[in-house]
Formats: sequence, structure tokens, C-alpha cells
Amino acid sequence: MAKKYETVLIEKSEGITWLIMNRPDKRNAMSPQLHLDMDDALDDLATDEETEILVLTGAGEEAFCAGQDIRLYFRGTEQDPKTRAKARRASNQWRWHRLSTFPKPTIAMVNGFCFGGGFTQVSACDFAIAADEAQFGLSEVNWGILPGGIVSWNVVQMMNFRDAMYYAMTGDTFDGKKAKEIGFVNLHFPKAKLKEETIKFAKKLQEKSPAALQYTKEAVRAVRFMNEPQAADYLNAKSDALKHNDKENSRQQGMKQFLDDKSYRPGLGHFKRQKAAAK
Ligand code: COA
Repeated sequence: MAKKYETVLIEKSEGITWLIMNRPDKRNAMSPQLHLDMDDALDDLATDEETEILVLTGAGEEAFCAGQDIRLYFRGTEQDPKTRAKARRASNQWRWHRLSTFPKPTIAMVNGFCFGGGFTQVSACDFAIAADEAQFGLSEVNWGILPGGIVSWNVVQMMNFRDAMYYAMTGDTFDGKKAKEIGFVNLHFPKAKLKEETIKFAKKLQEKSPAALQYTKEAVRAVRFMNEPQAADYLNAKSDALKHNDKENSRQQGMKQFLDDKSYRPGLGHFKRQKAAAK
């Protein structure tokens, strides 16, 4: 049974866990409570055996996430430094640390408005899939602040520099198709097909070795900020660790199915997973 939260919904189906920011009346803007709920939910789900793939999305028809709640997160904590510090810690923790180190593949399904602080959790997920009709915006400049938290850092990494500067300084919105064009999302679909296509994509990931996926995502993230000798050494050690820790012994399975059974071609598709026996 999924845990219940005031501002977060968790739905599970066939190995896919839907983690839903649930304040649709406020366009899923992030209140201090939502940060606390999300932080706890992600902590739990990281070791949840039913969760093979995590999809982060927003409740309702309109919004993925309208950024920080300007009333509750900003104004509401102005005179309350303790609550502000707690909310900020949880906010940074779940939107970046917990999501970017989540041990299973993560997908941000951007179903509608995505503003300001909402960019961080999209950037933290391994994949992002947007509705064509979604509206993205670095709206901070429109109310006299800068893209803080770590939003400016996120966008210079995800987009090319010209686009990051353009959208940060104009606050102009862009849709799902444009988000793909500038490298902020991987895929885009008409809203009516978004969920179905996201499930299709998640199922494709479920067919691959979970250990290979986990180690690959960790490796790709880690080498990003290393130099070549560090990366070579790290990847060597990481490959050995994967060999040692893969309960499904995927590497041997893959080699056997290609070289001995001749049942597949690794260049053209994946091997047939032999799932590890349940504990
Ligand atoms: N903080 C606090 N409240 C927010 C919010 C936010 N970031 N985004 C939306 N809301 C609230 C509105 O105040 C409104 O509350 P009310 O019903 O109590 O008046 C409710 O959500 C619906 O918003 P509304 O503006 O009426 O909906 P809309 O569909 O016409 O527009 C947005 C949606 C997202 C375009 C608009 O609400 C908006 O610009 N929000 C701010 C986005 C932003 O700049 N976020 C960055 C913060 S760093």
C-alpha cells in the first residue's frame, strides 16, 4: 500500500510508480509541506521493491509545477527563519539530491505549466517527456528575482548557453516542442497521448538490466565533471563493481545469448532478462 501524504500522491502499476505533485488548485506550486512530503516519499521509494521506474508528474489537467509557492514558500516564511530553512533544505534535497541519485530510472512527465523552481526536478530526472501543449518559463525575472535555488545552474547544463540566457532574461514561455529543440526534454507528444507514450517508454526501460541501468546513470552523471584520467579510472572501478553486484548476472546472460545461443544482436536490441529470484 502506497503511503498517504497531504500534497503528494503515489500510484503504482506494473512496476511503474507515479509520484504526483498534488496541489492542482494551486497549479502544483511547491509549498513547504509539499517539499517535506516529497522528501519523505522519495526516501521511501528509493528502496521500494515494487518501484522499477519512477515517473514524476503533476496532478490535474493544467500543471506539472508552477514553481515555488510564492505565498507559502516565500512570503509565508519571511518572518519565520526556522520554517524557511527547513523548507529550503527539503526543497533542495528532494528536487536535486534524492532525484538525481535515485537508484532506478526516473522520468519527468511534464503535463502542463512548468515554471521557475519546477525546472530543477525536470533537470534532475534521467529523462523528460513533455506534452506539446506544456508551457515552460523561467518566470523569475517577471517578478523581480533571479532563477535561484539551483535553477540557473540547471539550465546552463541542460540547454545551450544562448537559450539559457535568453529564457532566463526574457521570462518568455516555450512549449513542449521547443523544449525538445533546445535540449530540455527528450521527447514530446500531444497531451492526449502523453501518458500512453510515457508508459511505452517506461516499459522499454523495464526490459533492460536494472543493475546496468543504475550503474550507467550513476556513471554518466559522475563523469560529467571529471577529467579524462579520473573518468577512465572511475569507469574501470565502476564496471568491476557492476559485474560484482549484478544479481541477474546480465553480462554473462548477454554474452551467452549472443555468442552461444545466437538469439539476439546486442547492437540491435536487448537480451532476454533472467530476473533474479525474489528474496
Ligand atoms: N505560487 C503561489 N500560488 C500560485 C502559484 C505560485 N507559484 N501558481 C499558481 N498559484 C495559485 C494562484 O494564486 C491561484 O490561487 P487562487 O485560486 O487562490 O487565487 C491558483 O494557483 C490558480 O492560479 P491562476 O493564476 O488563477 O491559474 P492560471 O491557470 O490562470 O495560470 C499560471 C497559471 C501558472 C500561469 C499562473 O498561476 C502563474 O503565473 N503562476 C506563477 C508561476 C511562477 O512564476 N512561478 C515561479 C515561482 S519561482
